[in-house]
Amino acid sequence: MVDATELCALEEIPDGGAKSLELALDGERLALVAVRRGSEAWLYRNRCPHFSVPLDFRSGEFCTYGRQWLMCAHHSAMFRFEDGLCVDGPCTGAHLQAQPFRLEEGRLWLLTAAANADF
Ligand code: FES
Repeated sequence: MVDATELCALEEIPDGGAKSLELALDGERLALVAVRRGSEAWLYRNRCPHFSVPLDFRSGEFCTYGRQWLMCAHHSAMFRFEDGLCVDGPCTGAHLQAQPFRLEEGRLWLLTAAANADF
């Protein structure tokens, strides 16, 4: 069975930008980042595939470019919004870890198999 955990409203994600989302899931902290372009959004783990560290240097402060790319603050890897592919930088060809989500009536939901989620 799939559970849905409400994360935020689409409008809380800056258009062309990114938003940090953190929650506790089954007792473990889950750090996510949502990126948005207009009415579309995508959801990933906030973890760079280069050194497995958060993509933001200061919590919640992300660099995005041209409404298309999310940049890791550490060594400037550039990830495409729509599929998390690193198109430039030290981990070119790697992907951010996509998280299953649903966008419904202007709100973003994380889809999980777990039953207990708390913010
Ligand atoms: S840790 Fe992200 S590019 Fe190196």
